Amino acid sequence: MTGKGLRRGLPVAGPSTVGAMASTIYERVGGEAFFAALVDRFYEGVEQDPLLRPLYPQDLEDSRRHLSLFLAQYWGGPRTYDDERGHPRLRMRHMPFRIGLAERDAWLRHMLAALDEAAIDPAAVAEMTAYFTQTATQLINTV
Ligand code: HEM
Repeated sequence: MTGKGLRRGLPVAGPSTVGAMASTIYERVGGEAFFAALVDRFYEGVEQDPLLRPLYPQDLEDSRRHLSLFLAQYWGGPRTYDDERGHPRLRMRHMPFRIGLAERDAWLRHMLAALDEAAIDPAAVAEMTAYFTQTATQLINTV
């Protein structure tokens, strides 16, 4: 499946264009460097978070790389994530971790704070905020 495939209810590929602009969000926000910096800020928050930190591996290097490549791909960048990791299957990959409302809220808080520091256009911020909120909610796997 290509494009906006829906598997297990999760969007796996982002919109290739936004509004009337014939460019991807990936290009508009500054490409790979933007996603690397966003993910670095996000993990700075996770590192200090007593609820989330224990869920992640000791060494966050791979986690940084995977999330950054995934987001770059989702928003229209190169498909390196798929090449390295295969189909995202986010819901399946998150099943080993207990994700309830508190974990979702903590994850979102760090990601939206990281996004808030980005110097990108408000329309891109709004799209990403909606995407992160929806996807994090869909990853809840416990009552
Ligand atoms: C809802 C709260 C969430 C929690 C508690 C959570 C937690 C985790 C943990 C513990 C891992 C494994 C360690 C790692 O490889 O980094 C992981 C991996 C990952 N997460 Fe999340 N996550 C959440 C939401 C999300 C969301 C909303 C996205 C995407 C928008 C996402 C994307 C990823 C990706 C791409 C990986 C790496 C998968 C791989 O290639 O192995 N996560 N997450």
